[in-house]
Amino acid sequence: MRVVVLDEVGSTNDEAVRLAEQGAALPLAVRARVQVSGRGRGGRGWASPAGGVWLSAIGAWEGVVPGSVALRAALAAWDAVAPEVGRAAERLRVKWPNDLLLDGRKIAGVLCERRGLEDGRAALVVGVGINANIEASALPTGVRLPATSLLAALGRAVDADGIEARLVQGLARVLASAEHRLGEQELARLVDRLAYLERGVVVHQLDGSVVRGTLEGLAPDGRAAVRAGERIVWVMAGDVDAGEGSLRPETGF
Ligand code: BTN
Repeated sequence: MRVVVLDEVGSTNDEAVRLAEQGAALPLAVRARVQVSGRGRGGRGWASPAGGVWLSAIGAWEGVVPGSVALRAALAAWDAVAPEVGRAAERLRVKWPNDLLLDGRKIAGVLCERRGLEDGRAALVVGVGINANIEASALPTGVRLPATSLLAALGRAVDADGIEARLVQGLARVLASAEHRLGEQELARLVDRLAYLERGVVVHQLDGSVVRGTLEGLAPDGRAAVRAGERIVWVMAGDVDAGEGSLRPETGF
């Protein structure tokens, strides 16, 4: 997949759409050193200073299974980061649906979007932000889930270009398999790395309803299984937070 590298953009997700509308061949990836209007899920902002990996991949939207794309992208981010962190990879978890946590703090996030192009085509955009070489003082504060960076957590700089190269490979596979449900092996790898598995969670669903229960696993279409008393609630979209001491989202990240 071709990668366009830029110095400063608003959001790489938007830049990828702009390039596709100008006729760039898909799939395509866009990486920026800095984003001045980086976007997160739920309309939230995403702090994107120099030192991070801010990258979006764009491809055709054909029969996409959104839940599996989100989880596959999180796994691609895990695979991109893990070789760089040594034994800390054991503490690198996927927080459903598509965040990465290191020691419970957010180190990366994914923003998947279906975007209509001017010529009537639809595109799938998968944007990944990884807090790589970002000083602790430049990390967002007052956010729903505490943030960290690889630099802050490991106490040393990491090879951000190596992370990017692996991420591009992983996202190319995500785009190429976007119409498939998760396979057995992918599900097993995800469950193995899932944050809060078998623990109490609070789920804020998109319709505003809240489910409290135990996170039990994942379905091939990406839904999370939460046991609430005697029943299993299958969550399609929303936020899952640790049950104890978790906060209703107030400020975005
Ligand atoms: C989230 O956790 O809320 C998702 C954050 C996604 C951030 C990435 S950085 C690259 C791409 N461009 C954006 O504007 N957002 C995504």
